[in-house]
Amino acid sequence: MFLVNLRIRRSRYFRNDIQVFCQSHHLLTHPLIEIGQVGSKFVWLARRAFAYWGFLCKNLKNAIITLAPNSASLRISVAHRPEEYKYCRHKCSGFINKQYTFIGVIFIHLSMIPINQPWIGEEEKREVLSVLDENALTSSAKDGGKRVQALERLLKDYLKVQHVVIVNSGTSALYSAVLALGIGQGDEVLLPSFTFVATANSVVAAGAKPVFVDINREDYTIDIADLKTKITKKSKAIIPVHLYGHPADMDEISEIAYAHSLDIIEDACQSLGSVYRNAQTGTLGKLGCFSFYASKVLTAGEGGAVATNDDNLANKIKMIRNHGMVEGYDTRVLGLNLRLPELSAALAKAQMDKLQKLLDLRRRNANVLTGLLLPLTKERRINIPHETAKKRFNWYLYTVTFQEDYVREKVRRALASDKIAATVYYNPPVHKTPYYQTIASTKSLPNTDWASEHVLSLPVHSFVGAEDLERIATSIEKAI
Ligand SMILES: Cc1ncc(COP(=O)(O)O)c(C=O)c1O
Repeated sequence: MFLVNLRIRRSRYFRNDIQVFCQSHHLLTHPLIEIGQVGSKFVWLARRAFAYWGFLCKNLKNAIITLAPNSASLRISVAHRPEEYKYCRHKCSGFINKQYTFIGVIFIHLSMIPINQPWIGEEEKREVLSVLDENALTSSAKDGGKRVQALERLLKDYLKVQHVVIVNSGTSALYSAVLALGIGQGDEVLLPSFTFVATANSVVAAGAKPVFVDINREDYTIDIADLKTKITKKSKAIIPVHLYGHPADMDEISEIAYAHSLDIIEDACQSLGSVYRNAQTGTLGKLGCFSFYASKVLTAGEGGAVATNDDNLANKIKMIRNHGMVEGYDTRVLGLNLRLPELSAALAKAQMDKLQKLLDLRRRNANVLTGLLLPLTKERRINIPHETAKKRFNWYLYTVTFQEDYVREKVRRALASDKIAATVYYNPPVHKTPYYQTIASTKSLPNTDWASEHVLSLPVHSFVGAEDLERIATSIEKAI
């Protein structure tokens, strides 16, 4: 909560104009704060004198300020467009004296900017309610319920693949992909340790051994040189992870996979909408796995999908998600209940309509943040993410690194105290978690260790507005 003293005076030159003078004891970084700089002067246009005052304050861009007078005092409330200013609310109160001078205080309340936030609108509510109205909560048919099938069609068209099979989480997508390829006991699967643990867990759950590969320091995806050294006769598949929405080096990975007859399962759980050489991530390997967890670019609350161009694998995954059954109790392969309920499918289906908008807003925010942070990169105080000609990001997260690890903690704390939920993904990396230390004897992953101590992810989701981004950049600048 900040306080800004505000004086409003009727203009000497134009009867319906109001002049505002502000004084602040705080040096604040928010746009409203611009009016809080000592001695700032603004002209607000009055719509109608006295009975009711409506002002559009140009300097506040989208803020609409209304003054509602009663006999002795004026109340001012500042309403921002919710999608632009979700995380900042202002209230102002004071009184007006006989010289038409308003003496008051603005309370600026900054609320926490979460690292990610789903955008649930009327369309989602309508879709979910229609499931309840129809009393069609789920389906155990092999092809799934109406909304599951509709979501599969929408994703199939978006990704430009032959098949999409919807399941109930990204973990289920990965697990069913590993099972569908017949990977199990005695097999090894190559994957990065710098990922969410689900990537490794799905391999272990299928009975196979995860072999951890280091990452590169440019975009934190699997390191090609290290990948080559980790291949053995037992290797069956590679799971590149498009971490933070950064596509892995799929050309090189595909070459290696081809040379050693390995399958590729893409972990695209964070990368829906990311593009590698004009193709959607998740469509470049044999199987691509997506997550619709609540923090993801597109959400079902919980949910997942497997994309493939292989008819047999798609058919097998449909069986795996339904206890291996096809027509009644005829279990043909090992499977589980990995079905997505219709309520969740309805939510994600409605989200598909706004997927491009969600991605555009993230891109806009990432570009603005890059512009704001660029000056800091010149002194090499911070490294910011860069797309390349081959790799276009979905900007699921905007992940930066710092030269010194102590600076990361300093910046994280500064951002937290400015109510910005900057987050470290992933520390410890998977191979250093207690369970994996006992089952995998990973010796050295220097870049993974380095990244886990240096990365910091910043929010650029669709609710983050221009002022929030300035708040983020200013907070970082002050801390480093
Ligand atoms: C890289 C990665 N892999 C797998 C998963 C698992 O997805 P879910 O949480 O939907 O099971 C996630 C989700 O957090 C993820 O980020």
